[in-house]
Amino acid sequence: MDLEKIRADFPILSREVNGKPLVYLDNGASAQKPQVVIDAVTNAYSHEYANVHRGLHTLSNIATEKYEAVRGIIARFLGVADEDQIILNSGTTEGINMVAYGWAMPRMEPGDEIILSVMEHHANIVPWHFLRERQGVVLKWVDVDATGALDPQKVIDAIGPKTKLIAVTQLSNVLGTKVDVKAICDAAREMGVPVLVDGSQGAVHMPVDVEDIGCDFYAITGHKLYGPSGSGAIYVHQDRLAEMQPFMGGGDMIREVHKDGITYNSPPMKFEAGTPGIVQTIGFGVALEYMMSVGMEAIAAHEDALSAYAVKRLTGLNWLNLQGTTVDKAAIFSFTLDGAAHAHDISTILDKKGVAVRAGHHCAGPLMDHLGVTATCRASFGMYNTESEVDTLIDALELAHELFA
Ligand SMILES: Cc1ncc(COP(=O)(O)O)c(C=O)c1O
Repeated sequence: MDLEKIRADFPILSREVNGKPLVYLDNGASAQKPQVVIDAVTNAYSHEYANVHRGLHTLSNIATEKYEAVRGIIARFLGVADEDQIILNSGTTEGINMVAYGWAMPRMEPGDEIILSVMEHHANIVPWHFLRERQGVVLKWVDVDATGALDPQKVIDAIGPKTKLIAVTQLSNVLGTKVDVKAICDAAREMGVPVLVDGSQGAVHMPVDVEDIGCDFYAITGHKLYGPSGSGAIYVHQDRLAEMQPFMGGGDMIREVHKDGITYNSPPMKFEAGTPGIVQTIGFGVALEYMMSVGMEAIAAHEDALSAYAVKRLTGLNWLNLQGTTVDKAAIFSFTLDGAAHAHDISTILDKKGVAVRAGHHCAGPLMDHLGVTATCRASFGMYNTESEVDTLIDALELAHELFA
């Protein structure tokens, strides 16, 4: 992997912040965009913009063709043979809400259970709380161990006669923990329990083959995959697609509308109401092509090496408490410092050194409760980060420690 070339592809990486070269370690929240994505977005608005699916004029046809081609790109990226199982949307939050409203709500009764891990993002918690509040569905939580690892067997053991769904992340946005979702899916399938995998972080950091995983739903979000915000997709297994009702009604998702009735379009359009994020989705497709051209194996290998280096350096700081110490860990590090320093204060000091990290609860309330903290600092790496940026992070942390000690 040619790291220098990759860095040169991302124009923002050459800017300074507070007079220092930018060290962008907030990729878990949102990744930066390569020039090809920026160009694709600019080109779409400058030369090829029109609404999709509706017009018969040239520009509408071009926009529709480019927009629809992204479905195939996503299918290829995720290892899905039939692109009609890919529903385009604005991101993971929309994807999971679609499953909650369109698939889960109509088929769950009071006392039915949904199994969640304690390290889910709010996007994979709150929609299920809606079902708890409104339909009496029971949320069953599976803890992570002291290292932040999630034992797939514990998830499987939680399955009971009332379990209707397992919703689990493939990679924790707080701890970097990788989850063996395939083991969970294999066992759940045997027991007839569908599995939703939140791939928001997993798809960024490792090669994904959804059909090999064997899940029923797999959600991704474009802005973490080096694409525009407001883009995303969810894979839905054929059987679930047949069971699911549309979540939103409007244009494009219908075939006919009359005063006394409607007929729906076929999937995936049945689940894509209204004018979509046309240009965002086109940019998303270019971002995925870019990732595939670098190579997902190469990205994963680079990030795993970075992760090992960062673990070595961070664990050398005896006043830093690293949350999540599993061996198989992506390059996402949450930590607190000994003493009174709040995560927000630490991140402000790091920012003065040009280092962008996130501070807060990372939309993972149950995990924060489990860890017994209210907030952490999180440094999350992407394909363009370097070992020397790890060193800059460590220097900035040493400064923060000195200031607060
Ligand atoms: C694991 C995980 N799931 C879901 C989401 C929600 O993604 P979005 O806000 O793009 O819908 C995030 C974003 O931080 C995430 O990290």
